[in-house]
Amino acid sequence: MPAAGSGSRFGAPLPKQYAGLLGRTVIEWALAPFLADPRCAGVVVALAAGDPWWPQVAARLPAAVTTVPGGDQRSGSVLNGLQGLPGRADDRDWVLVHDAARPCLPPADLARLLDTLGGAATGGLLAAPGADTLKYCPPGAVAEVERTVDRTGLWRALTPQMFRLGLLRRALQAAQDAGRIPTDESQALEWTGARPQLVEGSAANIKVTTAQDLVLAAAILAAAATAATLP
Ligand code: CTP
Ligand code: MG
Repeated sequence: MPAAGSGSRFGAPLPKQYAGLLGRTVIEWALAPFLADPRCAGVVVALAAGDPWWPQVAARLPAAVTTVPGGDQRSGSVLNGLQGLPGRADDRDWVLVHDAARPCLPPADLARLLDTLGGAATGGLLAAPGADTLKYCPPGAVAEVERTVDRTGLWRALTPQMFRLGLLRRALQAAQDAGRIPTDESQALEWTGARPQLVEGSAANIKVTTAQDLVLAAAILAAAATAATLP
């Protein structure tokens, strides 16, 4: 779980993964589905240097959660997490990478990802088909529509993303060695020629980016809790 970002777009004094959300922090909600699924053997969290908020969270978590130092980029944080795994995991084992800023992962989506990809060679990711009409405006220009982008075949990449440990570690290392920064795990695998599998996930699995997203996340979690109590 990469959790070493500063949340600059969130605009709060503390990183968004430590923002309060229905009585817990965002990162505790993000961790919960993995801690509850018996198929997940352990959790590694990548943290910013000197993170003063983590110890309080860790005190409420099981001992199976360990930490590593984060990197300058999300991909570096993930690579650091994977580098500590040999000895604890085999190169053929599955690893799942999930943003600390995604507190609304439905447990059923995690289960579907594990069920769908369990026999796959490489792995894949949760993704949601595009719903909105997409407009293109050249960067730096006035905000005017140049054209509408055909959304046929376009998906939004979510997390968790699930890959064989050895393949993912080598792909992220190769990207780093080449000075390339992938924005997700899938992209690093794509650069090696792999074709990660898309597993449809809920659009409710939002990434908290701005302060408004936290309000939305609270509504999504409250709705899920209500639904769970219905007969
Ligand atoms: N992340 C990380 N290491 C970094 C940058 C980001 O582990 N060097 C993590 C974040 O903590 C978050 C996830 O990657 O859980 C997704 O990144 P993003 O949403 O971009 O979070 P931030 O980088 O913290 O936010 P911002 O881009 O607004 O500064
Ligand atoms: Mg960022």
